[in-house]
Amino acid sequence: MVKVITRAQELKTIRASETRQIGYVPTMGNLHQGHISLLQKALEENSVVYFSIFVNPKQFGPQEDFNRYPRTLDFDLKQIQDCLSGFPGKEVVVFAPIEQTEIYPAGDDQTISVIGLSTIIEGAFRPGHFEGVATVVYRLFDLIKPQKAYFGLKDYQQYLVIHQMVKDLNLPVEIIGMPIIRDHSGLALSSRNQYLTESQRQEALELSRALKKIASLVENKKTHLPVARREIDITLMNKNWNYLEIRDAETLSEDLTNSRKVTLLGVYQLGSTRLLDNIQVEIE
Ligand code: PAJ
Repeated sequence: MVKVITRAQELKTIRASETRQIGYVPTMGNLHQGHISLLQKALEENSVVYFSIFVNPKQFGPQEDFNRYPRTLDFDLKQIQDCLSGFPGKEVVVFAPIEQTEIYPAGDDQTISVIGLSTIIEGAFRPGHFEGVATVVYRLFDLIKPQKAYFGLKDYQQYLVIHQMVKDLNLPVEIIGMPIIRDHSGLALSSRNQYLTESQRQEALELSRALKKIASLVENKKTHLPVARREIDITLMNKNWNYLEIRDAETLSEDLTNSRKVTLLGVYQLGSTRLLDNIQVEIE
C-alpha cells in the first residue's frame, strides 16, 4: 500500500506509532529508474519505506532552476506503486509536502553546514547548495527517524556531505550509497536530462566517456597519475566542462599520496543545463 502524507504533523503522528524498521529515500521527485533503484533496495532491506518528494528551495541558487524543476507527483506515485507491487506485504509512506513551511516553519532559519566538504568542487560552483542539502536532509531525518537511508552515488559529493553530517552529529542512521543508473548510451539518469535537445543529448556522452577513459588510465596503476592529470588538462580544453577533478575517494583531498581509491568528478554544461557524473577507481 502507498500512503501519501502532505503534513509534517501527520507524519510525526504516524512515525510515533511505527514499530517496523524504516528505510528512507529522500528525493525531489520526477522519478526515474535511478530513484526507483533506491526504493527497491530500501524495500528489500526494510519492512516499511518512507519516501519523500520535496523540491527543496534552500539548495537552489537564485539563478538556478527551482521554478522550472519538473513536478510530476501523479506520475511519481504511479511508479512507486508499480515498484511496490513486487514486494507483497510491504508498505511505502510518501511524504510530499505542498507547503515549504512543513519543512521550514516560519522564523526557523537554523541551517546545517558541513564545513570543508561543502565549499569545494561542486560547492564552489554552487555556493550554499550543500548547506541547503544538509539542512533539508537533517530536518527530514529528524521527522522520519529512519534506521537506514539510501542515497545515489550519482551525487557523490552530496553522499559524502551527508555521511560526514551523520558522523559529526552522531545521528542514529546508516547511510547507504547506491550505484549510478545509466541509460544504454552511458548517460547517468537525471531529472535534468529532459532539458536537453537531441543534439545536446549526443554531446552529453562526452561526460561519461571522458570519465571512463581517465579512470582506465589509472586503474590499479598509481604511477600513471601524471598521465591521467595530463589527459584531464587536455579534456578541459573543451570549455563546456565546469570542472573535471581527480580526488581521493573518501576525503576529496587533492593530495593522492596515500590514496588507494580515487574519484573522478565532472560537470559538463550544455546551455544552462549542468550534467553531473563521477566514477570511482582503485589505483593500488
Ligand atoms: P534528487 O536529485 O531527486 O535525487 C534523489 C536521490 O536519487 C539522490 O540520492 C540521488 O543521488 C539519487 N539519484 C539520482 N539520479 C540517480 C541515478 N542516475 N542513479 C542512482 N541514483 C540516482 O539528490 C536530491 O534529490 C536532493 O539533493 C535531496 C537529497 C533529496 C535533498 O533535497
